[in-house]
Amino acid sequence: MHNPLHIIILAAGAGTRMKSRLPKVLHTVGGRAMIIHVIETALQLHPAVIHVVHNPHAPEIKSVCSAFDVNWVPQEEQLGTGHAVMQAMPGIPADAHVLVLYGDIPLLDAVVLGSLVNAQIGGISVLTMAVPDPTGYGRVLTDREGNVRRIVEERDASPEQRAIKVVNSGIIMAGQKELWACLENLSNENSQNEYYLTDIFSNANEAGIRTRAVMAPDARDLEGANDRVQLAALERRHNMKMATKLMEAGVQLADPARIDVRGRVETGEDVYLDVNVVLEGEISLGDGVQIGPGCVLKDCQLAAGTRVHAYSVLEGMCSLGACDIGPFARVRPGTRLLAGSKVGNFVEVKNTTLGKNSKASHLSYLGDSSIGDRVNIGAGTITCNYDGREKHHTTIEDDVFIGSDTQLVAPVVVGEGADIGAGTTVTRDVPAGQLTISRVKQRTIPGWKRPKKGKG
Ligand code: UD1
Ligand code: MG
Repeated sequence: MHNPLHIIILAAGAGTRMKSRLPKVLHTVGGRAMIIHVIETALQLHPAVIHVVHNPHAPEIKSVCSAFDVNWVPQEEQLGTGHAVMQAMPGIPADAHVLVLYGDIPLLDAVVLGSLVNAQIGGISVLTMAVPDPTGYGRVLTDREGNVRRIVEERDASPEQRAIKVVNSGIIMAGQKELWACLENLSNENSQNEYYLTDIFSNANEAGIRTRAVMAPDARDLEGANDRVQLAALERRHNMKMATKLMEAGVQLADPARIDVRGRVETGEDVYLDVNVVLEGEISLGDGVQIGPGCVLKDCQLAAGTRVHAYSVLEGMCSLGACDIGPFARVRPGTRLLAGSKVGNFVEVKNTTLGKNSKASHLSYLGDSSIGDRVNIGAGTITCNYDGREKHHTTIEDDVFIGSDTQLVAPVVVGEGADIGAGTTVTRDVPAGQLTISRVKQRTIPGWKRPKKGKG
């Protein structure tokens, strides 16, 4: 196509049916605002300009989309989809082809759009779809040649028209001149007193402009989200698509219906994901990684062979070799786990490096620390990293053995090969290769009588 492609994304609607303070297009599918999905799909068509029609009184949308270079077109009052498109028209040159997308159709596919764009031969085309339940959609009335006579909104349709199951996806492609001509005399004499974009088809027929319906191969990708029921259905569909992609890439899923992907996932071969795993942000899983049931991972990189056991929550961390995490572990940002290391049950780790073959198997808090190789962290060990004002660092060198229930009051260094006796409170640096213990000596008080209840 030699004419420039201009894409208009309609995103100004209030979304009354969502019953939400958030503008509709900022509701998320797969962890990202619907409008972001639409902009990213639009970009794949390499348009000259993307115009986003928005409500200037709902400024959140601009900050959510700040990473994208788009032309913001304000629509002061939401007077309908036709009125919204009109606001963008002054910024579109006469030789342009115009593609109109809706901000509440997040799963649409650039391949399907490409077929509409490439079929553009003047006139006005609409992407239509056949749905089992057309409730809420505009019904498309075509003639025998496939020309669109009219699109009738549900509220304005007769019972016979309502029975039509070929509906308007909302996606329209037109030459700038033809679109302008058909927009100019839109009226708002309908049940909602709105300027409907869909009325351009009857106008086009009156003006002798060619109209065409292009049927989309799979209606499910063109469904819009007007309310929360539809939004949840899109979320499920999105997750099924993500599950299929993962399986195609060599991931075994215990149940493709029970996985949630809210971001981008890169995977090696033979990765196994058990049920109810949630993947958020940027995730990378090396060959043979296994994730147990109920785990939540956000922005994590796991090296080949890493095993995450049931109900662990991991964020902003990486493993650099095969290691074991969980069950019931919480691994927080800035954590690096080296090969053979273990973060066991009820262990919280933050901003810490755990060296090769080092183990914290039970009930610990390790924060702001550097832990060497072959270190054993006994159950109940706590790095006391916060003095109420500042965070301090703990260094534990190679081959240290820390007995259970030890508190390490940072800043502190535990020298190589040191042993720390159970129940020690470490307040000063610990010398290498020796046993350090701060435990109070055990004593027994003879003749002790436990006070009896209710007797003073
Ligand atoms: C619209 C279509 C309907 C189609 C359906 C597909 C019209 C009149 N109806 O109905 O034929 O089957 O989409 O999903 O076009 N918007 C604005 N400004 C406005 C009004 C809306 O920017 O003044 C935006 C909304 O934010 C939304 C999009 O336009 O992204 C569509 O509006 P919506 O109210 O969802 O229309 P539907 O009732 O779904
Ligand atoms: Mg809609």
